[in-house]
Parts: sequence; C-alpha cells; structure tokens
Amino acid sequence: MLVLEDLAYAHPVMWGNYSFTMTAAPGEVTAVSGPSGSGKSTLLDLIAGFLEPTGGRLTLDGVDLLPLPPETRPVSILFQSESLFEHLGAAHNIALGLPPGTPRAEVARKVATALDEVGLPGVGNQRADTLSGGQKQRVALARTLLRNRPVLLLDEPFSALDDDSRAATRTLVRSLTEAHRWITVLVSHHQDDIAALAARHYRISSGRLLLA
Ligand SMILES: Nc1ncnc2c1ncn2[C@@H]1O[C@H](COP(=O)(O)OP(=O)(O)OP(=O)(O)O)[C@@H](O)[C@H]1O
Ligand SMILES: [Mg+2]
Repeated sequence: MLVLEDLAYAHPVMWGNYSFTMTAAPGEVTAVSGPSGSGKSTLLDLIAGFLEPTGGRLTLDGVDLLPLPPETRPVSILFQSESLFEHLGAAHNIALGLPPGTPRAEVARKVATALDEVGLPGVGNQRADTLSGGQKQRVALARTLLRNRPVLLLDEPFSALDDDSRAATRTLVRSLTEAHRWITVLVSHHQDDIAALAARHYRISSGRLLLA
C-alpha cells in the first residue's frame, strides 16, 4: 500500500496549504481528478520526491519514502508527452530504464520482451521522432516496465492521443498494472478514463483529497 497521511506543502505564492491523505493499492489504478491548478501535478511531485513536503507522512508498505531522493524512490513517472529522447531509437529509449552496466545481451532480450508486452514488436530501431503519439506513450510504458518500480505515477498520459489509441493505451495501463501489481496513480480530467480504469477515485478540493 502507498499511504499519504496529511502530506503537506505550500507553493511560495499561494492561497493556502495542501494536505494530502490517500491510500493506493497494488494491482489497482487510483485516479485523482480536479480542476486545472488544483494541485494534481504537485501531488505527484511530492510522491516522486521532486518537491519536499513541509509535514506529514509518505510510506510504501510501512517504509518511509521521504528520506529517499527521487532517483532511489521506488517510483516511475510518466508525463503527458515528451517523455522520450526524440533523436534516439525506441529500443535505446527503453534501455534507459535498465541500470547502467546491464550486459548487452540482457538489455536486448529485456527490451524485446518489453516491446512485445506493449504491443510494438519490431519498432525497436525506429527513432522516437518517427513514432506516433500513441506509440511514444507505449514506448515510455515499456521503459517503465524495465524500471520495474512498484509505484507508477501518470500525469494526464492520454490527453495527447486520439480516441482509438487512447482506449488502447488505457487498456494497456490497466493490464500492466494488474499483471505487475503496480500501484498506479493516474491524474486525469477525463471521466471516461477514470470510469474505465480506476478502482478508487479521489477529487482534489481546496487542497484536500476527497474520495469521489
Ligand atoms: N513552482 C511553483 N511555484 C509557485 N506556484 C506553483 C508552482 N508550481 C505550481 N504552482 C501553483 O500551484 C497550483 C497547483 O499547480 P499544479 O501544477 O499542481 O496544478 P494541476 O492540478 O496539475 O493543474 P493542471 O490540470 O493545469 O495540470 C497552481 O495554482 C500553480 O499555479
Ligand atoms: Mg498538472
């Protein structure tokens, strides 16, 4: 379980404080919605360690995550777009999910398996800037697969996609979450994403998370 207890933050120029309390379970997508500017990305930044909270607790299976810098937190984050290095090939982008020093043969094998798992066998040599938006998001998910961190944070990951690739990518997120027992936290404005994916849904209101 990922547990936030009164995780507190205030941006330098702001109306008030955030105080986030929520629970997210493995194998489930937990959705967070709220109007623009309500603090959704701030919430993910606090979980990922890009922002330091002013108080409260953040634990994964009882282990305190707050002392860990972002690079060692058990967390992957996927943004709306621009998650790939455009001038590198798909396989190269995915391989960045593996620790440096991984043997070449192992890299090749794991990258190929991850590409299969996201339904893109054969695009490994294609440069990222030649992929469609939906393909890019799936390559980014493949990289997340190799990172193999228990918590996956998604910040509006489908909003640049058309309806078809949106539905396909959504299904993929759900099946990967279930298969790998990830704790997936999805930020989305879209009711249909939330209805299709989320086991639990929080809404941000006045700096607090309310179960919707
Ligand atoms: N670095 C910063 N310094 C000061 N204020 C900030 C900073 N980053 C965000 N804010 C403010 O904090 C509030 C929440 O921002 P945040 O990016 O978390 O919103 P959001 O819910 O993700 O919005 P959107 O749906 O538009 O992405 C906003 O009022 C924003 O202006
Ligand atoms: Mg945001």
